[in-house]
Amino acid sequence: MSRMRKRGSMSICAAFGAVGLAASLASGTLHGSNTLVPPGAARYAPSAFPERIVALPDADPATSFAVAWRTDATLASAVLEIAEVRSSPDLADAARTIRAVSTKLQTENGVAYYHHARISGLKPEALYAYRVQGAGTWSEWFQIRTAAAQPRPFAFLYFGDAQNSVKSLYSRVIREAWRREPRAALAVHAGDLVNGRAGENDTEWGEWFDAGAFLHASLLTVPAAGNHEHHDREVDGRETYQLAAHWPAQFPLPRNGASGLPHTTYSFDYQGVRFIVLDSTSALKSGSAATQAAWLEPLLEHNPHRWTVVVFHHPVFSASLDRDNSHLREHWAPLFERYGVDLVLQGHDHVYARGQGLFAAGTRDRGTKPPVYVVSVAGPKQYRVSEEAQSAMARHGENTQLYQIVRIDDERLRYESWTVAGELYDAFDIEIAPEGAKRFVDRAPSTASRRCPHLQTRSGRTDRCWDGTEW
Ligand SMILES: [Fe+2]
Repeated sequence: MSRMRKRGSMSICAAFGAVGLAASLASGTLHGSNTLVPPGAARYAPSAFPERIVALPDADPATSFAVAWRTDATLASAVLEIAEVRSSPDLADAARTIRAVSTKLQTENGVAYYHHARISGLKPEALYAYRVQGAGTWSEWFQIRTAAAQPRPFAFLYFGDAQNSVKSLYSRVIREAWRREPRAALAVHAGDLVNGRAGENDTEWGEWFDAGAFLHASLLTVPAAGNHEHHDREVDGRETYQLAAHWPAQFPLPRNGASGLPHTTYSFDYQGVRFIVLDSTSALKSGSAATQAAWLEPLLEHNPHRWTVVVFHHPVFSASLDRDNSHLREHWAPLFERYGVDLVLQGHDHVYARGQGLFAAGTRDRGTKPPVYVVSVAGPKQYRVSEEAQSAMARHGENTQLYQIVRIDDERLRYESWTVAGELYDAFDIEIAPEGAKRFVDRAPSTASRRCPHLQTRSGRTDRCWDGTEW
């Protein structure tokens, strides 16, 4: 205990004795910052306490899942305890112990150890409790349910980019989503969870985990990597993109992805739905679109399930100004169409857009064929919908923080997009008719499309509505 007290006092000292904190607050330099942490403050320094705890899907969520967490460097080896849930508090007596694989990461907030535990041999559709170890400490017990081995109704959450002012303004989005669908089994994040990019992003990740708190540990997080989870650096005069070290350190995902992309492409089946996560940054910046398509096609062709959801960051059909990802239309969209993918969930454009119908010879045609393509945004950075997208997309909007809830059963996929203020902004169903064909039913409310109320951001940009860091 004396060690803990000493550690605590050092941390407080570091946080509040830091040069410049009082001055930062007094001078207002937090304005324009991407986090709530003033320069010099050690708000998210690693400690003996386990933190940033996140549950992730393994290849078979009916019998296994993975958990990651971190501590400071005093704990180079850690364990997880897990037991089937009982009403009695004697969880520790019934628990089995799983040893984690631990790796070291140097961050701007200090050296951390990231611990990965893969828990297998679980019963399907059973409620488990687990806790993770710190240095002389434990986390609380988190409860999480394994998937059923058969198709069963369930719900999942879907978030577009959080990215900026994550603790200040994204936290309310994930909390409202959970409040509306507290039994959601999964949370899909379509990339740019943080701003990152330059590499100094540990505080931003601290805010991302802080924003979702215990939710990250209580349902399965399904992350897709965005361009902001990559460093863009010039090497030999050429722009290169490299996955930032935090991603593999904190997200031990199923290692069943495309060749050369073990950390950012993966797939798993959950109660009658095939989920496939792709890496659009690598596809567009490193030329891996064809490699990923080669991995993707057999997953779609030999899918035994009724439903398919594909997730990645850059939209196949861009919705904001001056953007186009034609490479994805060339390599991926034909496969989505051929094999009847139901939902393509994306981010990156910082607007809302939902549409169907593919583009013959590059022209956009509003249609009703699958898949349904969605772009959404959860955080405060807000762009403008292009005129082309306004005409092509069935529903679109600006200046709005949103979350989505998707409920799926044997007969229907029901999609809802909600504003953080609690207004239903978009909705549709995909129903399975008696003869087995799928039928799209538009349930969007008749409210007007939301538009940006001003001509430029406070920094003077006219292609955006909000820069995301004005507060
Ligand atoms: Fe992005």
